[in-house]
Amino acid sequence: MRKICLKAYDAFIPILLIGVFIGIGEAKEVDWTAINPALSGATSVKDRGECESCHEDYMKAYDKTKHARVFKYGGNKQGNDCEACHGPASKHMKEAEKLQRTPGGAATIVSFKDKAGLSANQKSSICLTCHEKGERMYWKSGLHQASNVSCDSCHYVMERKSDKSLFANEDVKTACYQCHADKKGKNLRASHMPVKEGKLDCNNCHNPHGSPNQKMLKAASANDTCYACHAEKRGPFIWEHAVVRENCSNCHDPHGSNNTALLNAKGAALCTRCHQYGGHVNGLRYYKNNATYGQGCVNCHTKIHGSNHPSGAKLQR
Ligand code: HEC
Ligand code: HEC
Ligand code: HEC
Ligand code: HEC
Ligand code: HEC
Ligand code: HEC
Ligand code: HEC
Ligand code: HEC
Ligand code: HEC
Ligand code: HEC
Repeated sequence: MRKICLKAYDAFIPILLIGVFIGIGEAKEVDWTAINPALSGATSVKDRGECESCHEDYMKAYDKTKHARVFKYGGNKQGNDCEACHGPASKHMKEAEKLQRTPGGAATIVSFKDKAGLSANQKSSICLTCHEKGERMYWKSGLHQASNVSCDSCHYVMERKSDKSLFANEDVKTACYQCHADKKGKNLRASHMPVKEGKLDCNNCHNPHGSPNQKMLKAASANDTCYACHAEKRGPFIWEHAVVRENCSNCHDPHGSNNTALLNAKGAALCTRCHQYGGHVNGLRYYKNNATYGQGCVNCHTKIHGSNHPSGAKLQR
């Protein structure tokens, strides 16, 4: 029974992949000699079986990845598998037995290891031959590209370590924390959106591949990013609080805070950054009005994000 199911599955995959072929049909040929001059004159072996005798370990792990499965069914127009990323291997095959890797990484194969000395852009250019569209549309203008972060900083393609998207770590946030440790710290603070709990992730708000928006946000502005989940804050309201319309980050740190509700500052201090005298000539009276000085302002100005009450001009109802 199991076998029959597997067979049906095998036959189904090529059909599923037709869509994929269309995308891959556009794959450009990489200029391999520009990436590694030692590959000059090398040709494609186009037979992954040839690699098995020496790299079986890696291949076992690799075979569980999407690339291995897709390429097996001809998902790569060039008709190769390993060589789609490691370049034409004929010379490597010949020299493999006496292979000596020079410190400069002049081995006759494309290696992504640091000692091979490829630039971040060279590495990414190989992946981009097949993946430059869709989510990666703005890769070249993104700050990661500009900061020498390459595809393999977040993805590890030789083994399936994550449920989806061949992540270098078990999940998205762990991959980001490698370099953005401050954000990890913030997410551990008392008030945070449930990133730690796995209910949302960095890429709910950011496109780490690059985007046309500031801070590589997915949406056109910080506020549009927030409205995706907090639609009730979008308004419009009869009485707007101008500063809310401008940017939610004026008062909230989306990555986490030690104040309640992800606020940038505590209680009245949040408001008095902008409202001298707390908005009241006799400010002290209003502060004192509440035993909990800290929460004072929003006790009366409850509709801090905007009010729809006819007489809610002061955001108090
Ligand atoms: C006769 C054995 C042999 C065969 C066959 C062989 N290789 Fe290798 N390969 C080696 C050796 C030895 C090294 C050097 C290992 C090292 O540097 O640690 C190597 C290194 C590599 C590297 C670089 C790894 C690194 O250190 O970064 C890649 C990629 C690679 N081979 C891919 C392939 C592919 C693809 C094929 C099949 C087309 C293949 N090899 C066939 C022996 C072989
Ligand atoms: C989709 C691109 C891609 C394909 C296809 C691919 N590799 Fe790799 N391979 C990589 C990358 C990227 C690395 C570097 C991983 C790292 O260390 O971050 C790598 C690493 C390796 C290494 C060295 C491992 C190490 O880091 O020490 C070997 C050996 C290797 N690949 C062999 C193969 C063989 C054999 C195949 C085909 C069965 C294959 N690769 C298919 C991209 C690819
Ligand atoms: C020859 C074309 C080709 C190259 C080169 C290539 N890929 Fe892919 N990649 C594919 C195809 C085809 C798929 C499957 C498409 C799909 O599921 O939409 C895929 C899928 C993926 C996925 C999703 C995997 C999953 O499990 O959902 C990731 C991540 C990925 N590739 C990253 C990379 C990285 C990183 C590199 C460079 C080291 C690379 N690819 C190089 C063709 C390629
Ligand atoms: C800063 C981290 C980071 C870098 C760098 C990065 N990615 Fe991704 N990638 C992600 C995240 C996050 C996802 C979404 C994962 C998810 O939703 O499971 C993703 C998903 C993908 C996917 C699968 C989904 C899709 O869009 O088809 C592919 C393919 C992919 N990346 C390719 C690449 C390529 C190619 C590069 C280099 C040009 C690259 N990535 C660089 C973080 C990164
Ligand atoms: C290999 C290191 C590395 C990894 C991994 C990484 N980043 Fe970055 N990221 C950087 C660098 C370097 C910058 C440039 C600015 C800086 O120095 O902080 C940056 C900048 C950013 C920015 C600011 C963009 C801007 O326009 O100001 C965002 C947002 C960001 N990263 C999100 C992410 C997310 C989300 C992930 C995980 C999916 C991630 N990063 C993974 C290194 C990394
Ligand atoms: C709920 C949405 C949201 C989530 C989730 C989120 N961010 Fe952000 N992030 C933002 C917004 C909005 C900004 C811009 C803040 C501003 O305008 O000052 C930003 C800015 C950044 C910046 C650049 C400015 C800075 O503070 O350094 C980095 C880097 C960054 N985020 C990384 C991450 C990482 C890593 C994660 C996952 C742990 C993450 N973000 C999760 C919304 C989010
Ligand atoms: C992908 C969905 C999503 C996005 C986008 C999002 N949030 Fe949230 N937010 C949540 C969830 C889920 C909670 C937790 C709600 C709960 O526990 O009831 C939350 C909670 C909050 C809280 C309350 C925290 C507390 O401790 O009471 C604030 C404030 C908040 N978000 C602000 C923002 C801001 C500002 C943005 C835009 C930068 C944003 N959110 C974007 C999903 C999102
Ligand atoms: C003027 C400062 C300020 C700005 C700007 C602001 N908020 Fe708030 N927000 C607050 C305060 C103060 C609280 C806590 C209210 C309380 O304790 O009753 C809060 C609470 C929240 C909460 C949790 C409680 C609730 O009402 O659901 C969410 C979610 C939230 N804000 C989202 C947003 C979003 C989304 C934006 C941008 C559209 C935004 N805030 C802009 C001050 C602000
Ligand atoms: C980053 C600056 C900023 C912060 C922080 C801020 N506000 Fe405002 N607030 C404004 C601006 C700008 C206006 C619009 C003033 C105008 O239209 O004259 C405004 C308007 C108001 C109004 C209506 C005033 C009127 O004259 O109609 C009230 C009430 C108010 N804010 C209360 C608060 C409270 C309470 C807090 C703290 C939870 C707060 N604000 C935090 C900038 C801010
Ligand atoms: C006891 C309830 C109460 C408290 C506490 C309170 N307010 Fe008010 N606030 C009001 C009322 C009612 C009005 C409108 C009548 C008025 O102008 O006195 C108002 C008006 C305002 C205005 C508009 C002033 C103007 O010129 O129209 C601002 C700004 C303001 N408050 C900010 C704050 C800030 C900041 C705090 C905290 C430090 C605060 N309020 C605490 C009740 C309160």
